[in-house]
Amino acid sequence: MTAVPIDGKTLALRVREEISEDVAAYGDPVCLATILVGDDPASHVYVGSKHKASHEAGIDSRDHRLPADAPQSEVLDLIAALNADDGVDGILVQLPLPGHMDEPTVLRAVDPAKDVDGFHPLNAGLLYLDQPALTPATPSGVMVMLDEYGVELHGKEAVVIGRSEIVGKPMAMMLLARHATVTICHSRTQDLAQHTRRADVLVAAVGRRALVTPDMVKPGATVIDVAMVRTDEGLFGDVDPGVWEVAGLMTPVPGGVGPMTIAMLLRNTLTAAQRRRTAVATSGS
Ligand code: GUN
Repeated sequence: MTAVPIDGKTLALRVREEISEDVAAYGDPVCLATILVGDDPASHVYVGSKHKASHEAGIDSRDHRLPADAPQSEVLDLIAALNADDGVDGILVQLPLPGHMDEPTVLRAVDPAKDVDGFHPLNAGLLYLDQPALTPATPSGVMVMLDEYGVELHGKEAVVIGRSEIVGKPMAMMLLARHATVTICHSRTQDLAQHTRRADVLVAAVGRRALVTPDMVKPGATVIDVAMVRTDEGLFGDVDPGVWEVAGLMTPVPGGVGPMTIAMLLRNTLTAAQRRRTAVATSGS
């Protein structure tokens, strides 16, 4: 048996076309502001892709770049100015920040209504409470993929490997909200395979090439590989290629989860614009 590939590239293109239509129907300008501090090459590539995708969807963008040695106060001042700017709907601070900055402090400075990454504690708390929130793009994209391929979650065993704030924790909350029985595994988990073998849906978000081997996967399971491990030999996920012979559905790397992340960021930016306009209209009446 060979798993059916979950084609994130094609699905992301379709979602992005839908967003373009929704942006056009919205009528008013929609604007995403990004903040990139320092010169991490991967971050530069990611931010560049976010701007290109925004423009293709009809979303304006502003590109703020600061040197690696900029003081944290400069980033906080910039965030305060963008929070106050009515022409800005979404604010994204690219991570990681340089070591001298305190990420939680910086992320908490973003207006939760413009927090298109869903990293502010208010949005994280709303997700935890299963209430409407701006939610992190990568796990949101995974949920769209699971729905598109008709993967049943209700009462099923879902195992998430990784407990990051960007992927693992919000992923677990989203699966729980859909009534999966969720297990979160991490670097201290004893006998990882004992957990993963139970999974009907297995999400790997660690960043260690070939961490998940065929013997760790239940035959027919849905396997979602979130990792992007860059090596001289190319881009790899957490999942060993041998797992294609065991799984029922599986995301390739590249061309799986990655393209969906940007699509969901665009969706969040439009949602932030729509909600803010509604809130302004309501408070003004
Ligand atoms: N760095 C790696 N992934 C992300 C992400 O989803 N958002 C931001 N802001 N930075 C990241």
